[in-house]
Amino acid sequence: MLESSRIQGKRMLKLRITISVLVLSCCYFVYIVEAQVTAPSEVNALIAMKRKLVDPMKHLANWEKGDPCTSNWTGVLCNETVGTEGYLHVHEIQLLNMNLSGSIAPAVGQLSQLQILDFMWNELTGSIPKEIGSIASLKLLLLNGNKLSGSLPDELGSLSNLNRFQVDENQISGPIPKSFASLSSLRHLHLNNNTISGQIPAELSNVSTLLHLLLDNNNLFGYLPPEFSLLPNLRILQLDNNNFKGREIPASYGNFFRLAKLSLRNCSLEGLIPDLSQIPNLSFLDLSHNQLTGPIPSNKLSDNITTINLSNNLLNGSIPASFSDLPFLQRLSLENNSLTGSVPANIWQNMTFASSEILVIDLQDNSFSDVVGDLNPPENVTLRLGGNPVCSKGGMTNISRFCGNEDGDNGTLGNSANSTSCPTQACPTDNFFEYVPSSPVPCFCASPLRIGYRLKSPSFSYFPPYELPFEVYLTGSLNMELYQLHIDSYAWEEGPRMRMYLKLFPVVNGSQTFNASEVRRIRGIFTSWRFPGTDLYGPYELLNFTLLGPYSTMIFPDQKVHISKGILVAIVLISVVCVVAISAVVTLLIARRKTRYQPSLSRNKLSSKVSMKLEGVKSFTFREMAVATDNFNELAKVGQGGYGKVYKGNLYDNTVVAIKRAEEGSLQGQKEFLTEIKMLSRLHHRNLVSLVGYCDEEGEQMLVYEFMPNGTLRDWLSGKTKEYLNFSMRMRIALGSAKGILYLHTEANPPVFHRDIKASNILLDSKLTAKVADFGLSRLAPVLDDEGTVPHHVSTIVKGTPGYLDPEYFLTHKLTDKSDVYSLGVVFLELLTGMQPISHGKNLVREVNMAHQAGMIFSIIDSRMGSYPSECVERFVALALMCCYDNPEKRPSMLDVVRELESILKMMPDADAILSETASIYSGKSLPSSSSHVSLDPYVSSSVSGSDLISGVVPTVTPR
Ligand SMILES: *[C@@H]1O[C@H](CO)[C@@H](O)[C@H](O)[C@H]1NC(C)=O
Ligand SMILES: *[C@@H]1O[C@H](CO)[C@@H](O)[C@H](O)[C@H]1NC(C)=O
Ligand SMILES: *[C@@H]1O[C@H](CO)[C@@H](O)[C@H](O)[C@H]1NC(C)=O
Ligand SMILES: *[C@@H]1O[C@H](CO)[C@@H](O)[C@H](O)[C@H]1NC(C)=O
Repeated sequence: MLESSRIQGKRMLKLRITISVLVLSCCYFVYIVEAQVTAPSEVNALIAMKRKLVDPMKHLANWEKGDPCTSNWTGVLCNETVGTEGYLHVHEIQLLNMNLSGSIAPAVGQLSQLQILDFMWNELTGSIPKEIGSIASLKLLLLNGNKLSGSLPDELGSLSNLNRFQVDENQISGPIPKSFASLSSLRHLHLNNNTISGQIPAELSNVSTLLHLLLDNNNLFGYLPPEFSLLPNLRILQLDNNNFKGREIPASYGNFFRLAKLSLRNCSLEGLIPDLSQIPNLSFLDLSHNQLTGPIPSNKLSDNITTINLSNNLLNGSIPASFSDLPFLQRLSLENNSLTGSVPANIWQNMTFASSEILVIDLQDNSFSDVVGDLNPPENVTLRLGGNPVCSKGGMTNISRFCGNEDGDNGTLGNSANSTSCPTQACPTDNFFEYVPSSPVPCFCASPLRIGYRLKSPSFSYFPPYELPFEVYLTGSLNMELYQLHIDSYAWEEGPRMRMYLKLFPVVNGSQTFNASEVRRIRGIFTSWRFPGTDLYGPYELLNFTLLGPYSTMIFPDQKVHISKGILVAIVLISVVCVVAISAVVTLLIARRKTRYQPSLSRNKLSSKVSMKLEGVKSFTFREMAVATDNFNELAKVGQGGYGKVYKGNLYDNTVVAIKRAEEGSLQGQKEFLTEIKMLSRLHHRNLVSLVGYCDEEGEQMLVYEFMPNGTLRDWLSGKTKEYLNFSMRMRIALGSAKGILYLHTEANPPVFHRDIKASNILLDSKLTAKVADFGLSRLAPVLDDEGTVPHHVSTIVKGTPGYLDPEYFLTHKLTDKSDVYSLGVVFLELLTGMQPISHGKNLVREVNMAHQAGMIFSIIDSRMGSYPSECVERFVALALMCCYDNPEKRPSMLDVVRELESILKMMPDADAILSETASIYSGKSLPSSSSHVSLDPYVSSSVSGSDLISGVVPTVTPR
């Protein structure tokens, strides 16, 4: 016996060695083949970059696993074929709009074949690494919309392939390096909205490829280089809001050959306006807010001119006759000068207008003495003459209507109407699908791609006449049909720029969604600026291209690497051989062990447990959890959330708790889980459901909370409960919820955005005190990134809940405290109406808004809440609607919400009782004065008035 077991022992040893050798050599083979994937220096560079970035949404969570080029690292795009040295190379880094902070690691310089580096609209700090200057292949360097500081490195001047350099909207300081003169392929230089200072290098006039030079909103000074007029391709020169004090506009600027837009607003320029009449295609001229003197040159400007703004200067003389024959003119601003003489009515009388065209002529605050010609302008013309002698002089009839002192044209807010008479049920109203607005097939329901887009420097002042041509241009460049594009809304912003939201729909009669390759194609065109240039629309900014709804699960970018067939065959063969060999040996071994040996001890999977002492929360064993829930009995189940199932449990000491058990996909690394628990355990507030403990064992993760016997607010509103909530209970619940969330926003460190506030996440304890649940859990769930890449699992938490989702979050994918304000606003509307956020195809926010505008608000108030003071209801409605504004900046902060609710409650008969119950979170600190305003939108406060409102307590009106 002894002998035979020794022999067997030897055999086992041999076998083990064989297996080890086999495994090792297989691994080595696979390694060799795999190593021919991304160049190692580039892998290291990416890892170094990730280390310097702060990534709260975990977009880059997969930047560790596998190979960058073949394992779809978020935002990393590679060339499609292996280069001569056998490696793949990173060609693009596309990390637009991903909430990244931290800095750009100098290691980025190692990405030697990079063509596009895109970090737009993040929160990056630190300086631009000079190492970027060594990436000779770089074509697009897109860093706009961050918080980068420091100066522009000289080294960038060696990027001889650079086509587009955007670092606008940062905090860059220092001068523009002279070395930029050697950027011999540069077409777009956007440095606006920084604190760049010094003299503009005249050497830039060597960059003959330059199309758009945007240097506005900086601290530039010195002179305007006269040599710029030699730039043969320059279309836009925009220098607004710099300080060229005492300098003049060079006379040579009249020689520009291709210039479409010259914008020198507020630059402290002096001297005369040069003759610009020889610039063939000049469309937009803004020299306003300077100290320009002398007369306006009399030669006729280009026929293409849409905008002439010479306002707020020291100009004298009269209006040149040549202004009367400009066919595309939309805006003529000469206000606040010292112009004299007569106003020639033929400026407007000679023009013919299409219905979408307008002309605004602002001549206020000059010294015009009369109008010659027929004063009655066509409807499309707005004429402003206030502040001129002609207005105070008698004799001219009909003049007074042009003499009001009006503000300038503050820009329009456009919103193409979107009225459909389609059946509401047939298209899911989950915000992801909608009817194609101008579909040739009636009522075709599809899911659009949503794009935040901004014209950075358009050459027009009024969009409607250009809307259709713009749509034709965009769809043509995208190779799509005209109806597939819908401009959802647009608005003018400071600059002037024009921000728009675009929706692109799939072809009708095809699928309701774009397929992945189409999404990739379209996105590729936007993110690599492959649109033909136009002078009229100017450059665009891509604000976001967020993949949501059906697109969110689209793995992106797809596996686009084609490893050569030979290598592929080799990989497959080696793998097959390895697998077969190893399994044969293992089978053999197991068979032997089974027949000749006792089974060895089963290995303890849980041998390594990170231990962590957490104050106030208890660590439970899996066994304790199983006992408490009767082995996770279905009967003990009380809910189901994005994170997993929720059970009611009885602990051994008879405490009743709610146990949330993570589902497979919501499981986190142990360290991360415990870090999150630690964070949650520090959050204590009477309006938050408190964490009792957790369980992290047997591959399970559970959170144990205090149990809320009165269930969710949703149950109460939907009538699942026997009783109804009266108005003051509802107000109390509103205030409690708001305070809980305010605590998360302001007292938690780091601040916690809830992200999924809804009536079913507001729980009620035995005294019907509101307690917000599920906060912080979003951090536990895997995060879906902008690219739609799903690291492990799509969590419903991160997506929020349809009907509660901040529309801005939809478009920008940027989460703010105001997203929670929006969702809470929807809960308020539910409290007021008892309705669901989306029901029967109707959106609650829209419904209440409509009722409110129609002065019918009391017709949709929940009749089950008994009597209420109508004034309080009005203010509560107004508050709720403000929370639900589309524009997050117009929404109140959570603090404003709490203050306003408290101030409403103070007006109620049982005010003291309620307020003392919902003790202010500021007890101890002094509550900022509640009289400080929650600014009420004018239409909100004025449209709720009328005969149906009776002050004081009124019985409920109109049953629903
Ligand atoms: C640029 O700066 C100006 C002046 O500070 C500001 O009004 C404008 O909104 C800024 N533009 C952008 C796009 O941030
Ligand atoms: C200027 O006008 C001409 C003639 O109408 C037109 O062909 C050209 O495209 C216009 N250019 C711009 C920049 O609008
Ligand atoms: C009118 O223009 C002058 C000179 O540019 C400027 O100082 C003044 O503030 C302007 N006045 C108004 C009312 O805008
Ligand atoms: C994706 O959609 C486009 C346009 O509808 C179509 O041409 C293409 O064949 C589709 N590709 C796949 C892989 O289905």
